[in-house]
Amino acid sequence: MASRQRGPSKSVRAETAYTPDALRAVDRPLRRAATLPGPLFTDPGVFAREFRNLFLLSWVCVGRDDEIPSPGDFRTYEVAGSGVIVLRDADGTLRAYHNVCRHRGTRILEAGSGSGLSVLQCPYHAWTYDLQGHLAGSPHMDLAEAFDPDAYGLYPVRAEVWRGFLFLNLNPRPEPLAAYLGDLRARAAPYPLERLRRAHRVVYEIAANWKLVVQNANECYHCPGVHPQLVRLTPYRSGEEDLRTGPVFGGWMDFVDGACTLSPDGRTRRRTFPGLSREDLGRVYYYVLYPSNFISFLPDYVTLDWFIPLSPERTRLVFDLYIDRDEADAAEDAMGFWDTTNRQDWHICEMAHLGSKSVAYTQGRYSSEEEVVHLIDRYYLREMGLLPRSRARRRSA
Ligand code: FES
Ligand SMILES: [Fe+2]
Repeated sequence: MASRQRGPSKSVRAETAYTPDALRAVDRPLRRAATLPGPLFTDPGVFAREFRNLFLLSWVCVGRDDEIPSPGDFRTYEVAGSGVIVLRDADGTLRAYHNVCRHRGTRILEAGSGSGLSVLQCPYHAWTYDLQGHLAGSPHMDLAEAFDPDAYGLYPVRAEVWRGFLFLNLNPRPEPLAAYLGDLRARAAPYPLERLRRAHRVVYEIAANWKLVVQNANECYHCPGVHPQLVRLTPYRSGEEDLRTGPVFGGWMDFVDGACTLSPDGRTRRRTFPGLSREDLGRVYYYVLYPSNFISFLPDYVTLDWFIPLSPERTRLVFDLYIDRDEADAAEDAMGFWDTTNRQDWHICEMAHLGSKSVAYTQGRYSSEEEVVHLIDRYYLREMGLLPRSRARRRSA
């Protein structure tokens, strides 16, 4: 009797890579579903499509608006591979533009931040723009025919602020930020987000596809093996998921008795945020703001991750830790805890990436502890147009 082939082979991968059946298998109910096909983590064509379908259309939180406090102050950001300038004009209004000259496309501002801006001048041929984005000067263009300077202002970028968090969106007609955040606004209501200041920022580079990093942030199935310090404070099966429809997904985990925050000993040297319920004092809330951010609310601090895909196999991650603006303690303990936890995560994500790009990997199966990962993966496939979009949200107004 011929034995059934059970080992890896290229033909297995070729059959499952992008077939509708392989993608539909992800869309089954959790108990029967298959995980994302391996090639979705490495294919440059998929990566380009992710920019078109996700990152160029989605809100991304890049930091806080108080990092640009006064008229003439500016910051520059890289969003989905494009440069963005955010500045405060003379009236104190926050304005955002593509960092692209309308002459021949040169990047206008090189610095990451600065102040005292009264005009924006391209370093190449000196076209200048006022802080409202109008073209104010364009040397030697007087002989150009049918050249209307009013039609050559800077391209605007949508910017909105939610309780101090600055969000950008490259989609010219995005859904309102409030609609994107949805029920997260109510979940975050007890926390004094307006009062936060950044205590720490660490930028990591991870040799893994961004989706693996996002998946990893949304399950604690891996916690017993990967995070011995974390599971001592928040047991991996504690808590519940309460936001499941996207683009915001997540829920909370419970502290063990005797712990009140995530720090090396579970204690805090900081005042807890005033007015939190007994329930919230015993929880850490985690939410992914798909596809670019992950936010957590604790009794005494808040963290924000910003996932930046650099290539199919490289992800930059900006990790911010925020505390109350009047808090004297610098939260070194919390940052140390998260740096350890983060590095544990990045290492296992890199190992997952190495394995999932092997010819031997096709599709696995989800455990009952990966419900949110499954929801996110289905949401991803719909936003990518790889599954029928009938149940997908519209991303533009
Ligand atoms: S490219 Fe900016 S002035 Fe020429
Ligand atoms: Fe983790």
